[in-house]
Amino acid sequence: MKKSVWAPTVLMCLATISLQTIAGDVYSLRGSKELNTNSDIPKMKKWQPDRDPITRDYLQQPPLIPHKTEGYAINLRNNKCLNCHSWSNYKESGATKISLTHFKNRAGNELSNVAPRRYFCTQCHVPQVSAKPIAKNTFRPLHSLVTE
Ligand code: HEC
Ligand code: HEC
Repeated sequence: MKKSVWAPTVLMCLATISLQTIAGDVYSLRGSKELNTNSDIPKMKKWQPDRDPITRDYLQQPPLIPHKTEGYAINLRNNKCLNCHSWSNYKESGATKISLTHFKNRAGNELSNVAPRRYFCTQCHVPQVSAKPIAKNTFRPLHSLVTE
């Protein structure tokens, strides 16, 4: 009887030890803080200075925002991005106009204004800071998109 109790216990211990070994370098982004303490407030990084459009890495990529967006409100009444990027304003502001895909709603109907699912621009488009990547990434842009 005793044997049948010990065998699973020993196996479980071994499994725990090997899982810990595999987990090795994995650590939480919160650092080694206890669960009941608050995280450190992350340092704010500087936004990159405004510049020309940033080369895309793949065709369907939402282009990265090459300018600062601090104070650009997007809410029920106002969408600051559209002040420059809408079809009626882009010429005057020199900004790229939003693409036709932004007028199609989720049922596939073409609307005469930005579709609700494209209204909150920063859901997909993000301004840039100079930060070290958190994880190593070996992604390479699509050959046909590389200009240099
Ligand atoms: C004051 C005008 C203005 C406002 C407001 C503005 N932009 Fe822009 N945006 C520009 C200009 C100008 C460019 C650069 C166009 C160029 O050089 O070809 C640009 C470029 C971009 C691009 C890159 C386009 C590409 O083809 O690579 C994205 C994406 C973008 N803006 C998103 C946004 C979003 C999202 C907001 C709101 C949070 C916003 N912009 C607010 C003027 C503006
Ligand atoms: C759900 C994600 C999503 C949202 C929300 C969104 N976009 Fe986009 N945007 C994209 C993708 C993906 C592309 C590239 C493919 C395409 O043109 O549809 C793009 C392309 C663009 C371009 C480049 C157009 C071109 O002709 O090269 C601009 C400018 C832009 N978006 C601005 C905006 C603005 C301004 C808003 C808010 C009103 C917005 N986007 C909301 C995903 C999004």
